[in-house]
Amino acid sequence: MMKPIADNAPLKELDDWDDFVAIRYQQGKSEEDFRNYKADANRTVTEFYRQNHAYQTLDFVRSKKAEYCSLKRGKKSIWEMAEYLNTLVDDSDPDTDLTQTEHLLQTAEAIRKDGHPRWFVLAGLVHDLGKVLCLYGESQWAVVGDTFPVGCAYSDQIIFPEFFPANADSAVPEYQTEYGIYGSHCGLDNVHLSFGHDEYIYQVTRKYLPEEAGYMLRYHSFYPAHRHGAYRHLMNDNDERMFEWVRKFNPYDLYSKGRERPNMQEIRPYYQDLVSEFFPDKIDW
Ligand SMILES: [Fe+2]
Ligand SMILES: [Fe+2]
Repeated sequence: MMKPIADNAPLKELDDWDDFVAIRYQQGKSEEDFRNYKADANRTVTEFYRQNHAYQTLDFVRSKKAEYCSLKRGKKSIWEMAEYLNTLVDDSDPDTDLTQTEHLLQTAEAIRKDGHPRWFVLAGLVHDLGKVLCLYGESQWAVVGDTFPVGCAYSDQIIFPEFFPANADSAVPEYQTEYGIYGSHCGLDNVHLSFGHDEYIYQVTRKYLPEEAGYMLRYHSFYPAHRHGAYRHLMNDNDERMFEWVRKFNPYDLYSKGRERPNMQEIRPYYQDLVSEFFPDKIDW
């Protein structure tokens, strides 16, 4: 008999979802490989998507935004939060698995090596800090996963669409039309996406970073839109322009894994400087 999977935490580590996405979007895939994503999704990843699609309702998203996006969980520096997030990887293999901070530094380093602006490097450094939601007690399906709009019809470009009938919103006809509760080209700022680490880190950092960086943080997991071109009927002209940056960011998130470990000692002064250029010592979380 197969071992049952813990209902609230199917993934061994939060990174298992990122690893799956990296495989799914690796370069050189044929259309057929691409449609055949189930071949790459193991049992835990499949179970993770089942929960994500079943439980991310419009009500859920609204309640989590109310809970977290008012930033009432105290003040911490970016570095304190990075250290706190590192406590998430206790079970991983220290020889092969990167810590959360190492993934962030690796992403940032890859961006820096390509000569991008400093705010772009900084976006790389902070983009996954919202995963601290897990340490606040949120289930994996409420922290990571490809994001998608709620309150309107689910695009067929979303992975594992067969899990959506289990979502309570599927029984609400108003939420299942093409536009749902939204207007034509209303702009993504007016659209509720499934809740996760993207929205949280965007809200935490929005006052301090340029708009382009804000888009990268807020929409980096919105694969149905930035990789598959879905939901353009909800996007406005500014979203279209800004998504160029979201697309520029994505390869660094996907392919920065598995390269050599960043040398903390060596690069720390650069990043300390960079963080203090944009952020005050402590910010609201
Ligand atoms: Fe992420
Ligand atoms: Fe990431």
